[in-house]
Amino acid sequence: MKLHFTSYQIVHPFGCIKKEFAMKELFEPVEVGGISLRNRFIRSATIESPFDENEAFAHRLMPIYEKLATNSISAIITGTVGVDENSRSTHLMIKAYGKTFVPELTKLVQSVHSLGAKLIVQIGHAGIKARQIDGGGPPLGPVDTETSKGLPIRGITRDELHALAASFAAAAIRCKEAGADAVQILAAHGYLLSEFLSPYFNKRTDEYGGGIENRARITLEVYDTVRAAVGRDYPVWLKINCKDRTEQSISPADFIWVCKELDKRGINAVEVSGGSSIDPKSVSTPLIRNEEEEGFFAREALQAAEEISASVISVCGYRTPDVIEKWLNKGGIDAIALCRPLISEPDLVSRWEKGDKTKSRCVSCSKCFNPKLECVPFAGKA
Ligand SMILES: Cc1cc2nc3c(=O)[nH]c(=O)nc-3n(C[C@H](O)[C@H](O)[C@H](O)COP(=O)(O)O)c2cc1C
Repeated sequence: MKLHFTSYQIVHPFGCIKKEFAMKELFEPVEVGGISLRNRFIRSATIESPFDENEAFAHRLMPIYEKLATNSISAIITGTVGVDENSRSTHLMIKAYGKTFVPELTKLVQSVHSLGAKLIVQIGHAGIKARQIDGGGPPLGPVDTETSKGLPIRGITRDELHALAASFAAAAIRCKEAGADAVQILAAHGYLLSEFLSPYFNKRTDEYGGGIENRARITLEVYDTVRAAVGRDYPVWLKINCKDRTEQSISPADFIWVCKELDKRGINAVEVSGGSSIDPKSVSTPLIRNEEEEGFFAREALQAAEEISASVISVCGYRTPDVIEKWLNKGGIDAIALCRPLISEPDLVSRWEKGDKTKSRCVSCSKCFNPKLECVPFAGKA
């Protein structure tokens, strides 16, 4: 028999009621981050497919998205879409500023909607991880430094930071124009905004460096500029690190402080992740060896949910439906995002929905980062 908790409600600063901590089911319609979803499973951002020479991408992503949407995923978050000419780390990143971006995205949105799912576009800047693939100068980071290979990284100027916020806003407007259900600002995984949040990368001495109020300044400016551009009713989400997995890291208190500031300003959802992916120890895609390691950043997501009224999405390491249900019912996590398990088994969510609750076959090998390597199937008993 299922216990039903007494529910209580929190009033969002913009007037909408957030959530009730009642017993949650995996497969029930739910409101997350200003969007109605058919269940609690979201495909987390996953970079997938290169453009062709005309910057077309819909034909490449369409089969992947259609497979996921046909198989019960409630919402798909695209891989990071670059906001300007300095923002891309790989040719796989779509350009929000590309000529064909709006019509190509429109095709994807229409297709995903026709299959009952939602489409959210992740917008970002790769910071020190960017490559000079669109011309331009060296990668930009919080300060002048160099890569592990000795290549220069240039500290981004104040003027460029203002331009950056405007580029995020321009990208968000284009996503809205194409009919996307929300945008998600990438402020995680050691990309530019995450580098500013992190004391490991951010050694600035101006108003963008130092304490968390300063290190978070550009993230909040980007959020404010995007919000002003898309209006108060359009869902804006943000993916943030609760820990960077580097020696110096955003602290638990700083992470909560940023979540609360975003919440005050009306963010609709926060996806809690971690890792900077600058070396094997700091990856955002850790090895998940057992059920105890599933929900790698779930404790921190629960803490955020206690402090904010925006929706909270937890990502990383979820493999087993019973474990997912347990984390959802420990507190205020609203939805779970999956990446590698859906590369391994695009029909995973519908399999679970139909009653086959066997864990994902994904062994977190992360070979899916390299499309030339084969995804290793689940080695245990299926
Ligand atoms: C191939 C691949 C591509 C990814 N692309 C992105 C991305 O574009 N943006 C992002 O925020 N995270 C990206 N991630 C990280 C995932 O969204 C997710 O945070 C991480 O894989 C942990 O979840 P999982 O254990 O369900 O895989 C990617 C991960 C993989 C394996």
